[in-house]
Amino acid sequence: MEKLVIEGGYRLEGEVSMSGAKNAALPLIAATLLTAGEHILHNVPDLRDTRTILALLEDLGVTWRRAGTSLYIDSAGLCNFEAPYDLVKTMRASILVLGPLLARLGKARVSLPGGCAIGARPIDFHLQGLQKMGARLDLEEGYVQASIDNRLSGTNIYFDIPSVTGTENLLMAATLAEGTTVIKNGAREPEVTNLVDMLVNMGADIEGRNTDRLTVHGVKQLKPAVTETIPDRIETGTYLIAVGAAGGKVTLTNCNPAHLPSLIEKLRGAGLQIEESENTITVSRPGPLQSIDIKTQPYPGFPTDLQAQLMALMSIANGLSVMTETIFENRFMHVAELKRMGADIRINGNSAIVKGIEKFKGARVMATDLRASASLVLAGLAAEGTTEISRIYHLERGYEDMTGKLQKLGAEIKKEKE
Ligand code: UD1
Repeated sequence: MEKLVIEGGYRLEGEVSMSGAKNAALPLIAATLLTAGEHILHNVPDLRDTRTILALLEDLGVTWRRAGTSLYIDSAGLCNFEAPYDLVKTMRASILVLGPLLARLGKARVSLPGGCAIGARPIDFHLQGLQKMGARLDLEEGYVQASIDNRLSGTNIYFDIPSVTGTENLLMAATLAEGTTVIKNGAREPEVTNLVDMLVNMGADIEGRNTDRLTVHGVKQLKPAVTETIPDRIETGTYLIAVGAAGGKVTLTNCNPAHLPSLIEKLRGAGLQIEESENTITVSRPGPLQSIDIKTQPYPGFPTDLQAQLMALMSIANGLSVMTETIFENRFMHVAELKRMGADIRINGNSAIVKGIEKFKGARVMATDLRASASLVLAGLAAEGTTEISRIYHLERGYEDMTGKLQKLGAEIKKEKE
C-alpha cells in the first residue's frame, strides 16, 4: 500500500489542466452497452473507477482500447449479463449496467452494492423504476435478477429524492422501451446532461435536457456515437479550494466554471479572487479567509462531493462556519482526521460547526473515502510540518494524477510505500 507525504506551507502557483469527469464517464461507458458497434468517448480520465467499469464491461464480453484520453469501446461481443460481486463491491456505480443490460438483452444479474462508508445508499429507486417499466425482479444470493419478455414499457416515474445514478439508469433503460417514459424530479447534474447528449446522438428521443423532468420516447434501435466527457467539476472545485488553503495563484484549464455556480460564489464570499472564462478559472487568495455557511443540495446547489474539502478550508478561516449535509448520512468521517490535525469541529446532527483555527498541524491521518481523502490533502498543503496520509487508494478512485498535478503547482507532495 502507498501513502502520501506532504510538507505543508508551500503556495500553489501556475497552470494545471482538469481531467474529464469520473461521474460522467461511468454512465457514458455503461451506455455503450445499449447497442453494438464502436463507440468513441473522448476526455475519459484514467482512474481506478473507470478501470473498474471497463473491467466489468470486459467481463460481459465487450472489447475496448484506450488511446490517450479517448476510449474506443465495442459492445458487439456482449454475451454475458452478470455483474459479479467482486467488481460491484469495489464501486457502487457498477449498478449503472443494470438498465442498459436489461434494455438490450432482456435480462441482467447484478450484485447488490451493499453497505458503503458514506451511509446506507440504497438502490430502491433504480429497482422500483425498472419494475414500473415492466421488469420482473428477484433478489437471490445478494444479486438482483431482472428480466423482461419483450421490451420494457414506458411509464411515469417520480423520484422522492433526485438520484443521480438512479436517473441515469432509468434514462438508459427508457431509450429502448416501448412508448414514453417521463422521469419527474430527476437529477439534473451536468453529468446527467452529458449522458442525455450521448443518448440523443445515439438516436434516442429525449426532451427536457437540463431539467428535472425528462421525457423519453422509446426507439427500437440505437447506434454508436462519438461523445466528449465534460470536465470534472469536483476535481476543479477541489483545486479551487486547494489554492484557498495553501495560498498562491493558479489557473485551471479545460474546466467549466458554469458547472460550479454555488461553489464559486461561496469561495468569493470566503475571500478568494476568482476570474472565469468559458473554460478556465484563475483563483488566488489575496487576504485572510472568512468563514461561510453551506448546505449540500442537489445540483445546482452546493455539491455533497465538495463538502469535505470545503470543511478543510473552513477549519482555517476566521470565524464560525456551519456546514449542513442533506444528501448522505455519515458523511463526516473526515472530521475525526481533520481534528487530528488541530481542527476545531463539532458535529450536531447533520451539521458540522467549524471554528477556524490559525493553522493545521501536520499529522499521520487515514483516508476513509474518496472526497474525505481529498480534504486531508488540502489540510496537509496548508499545515505546518509533515502530513502522512495512508490508504490513498481511495483518492486514486477519483483524482487523476493528483500528486503530479500538485507537484507541478509547487506543492511538496510525494507517494511512498507504507
Ligand atoms: C452520485 C455520485 C456521487 C454523489 C451523489 C450525490 C456517481 C457515480 N456518483 O451518487 O459522487 O455524491 O450522486 O450527488 O455519479 N437514494 C435513495 N434510493 C436510491 C438512490 C438514492 O434513497 O435508490 C438517496 C441516497 O441515499 C441519497 C440521495 O438519494 O440520500 C442521492 O443519492 P444519489 O444521487 O443516488 O447518489 P449516487 O447516484 O449513488
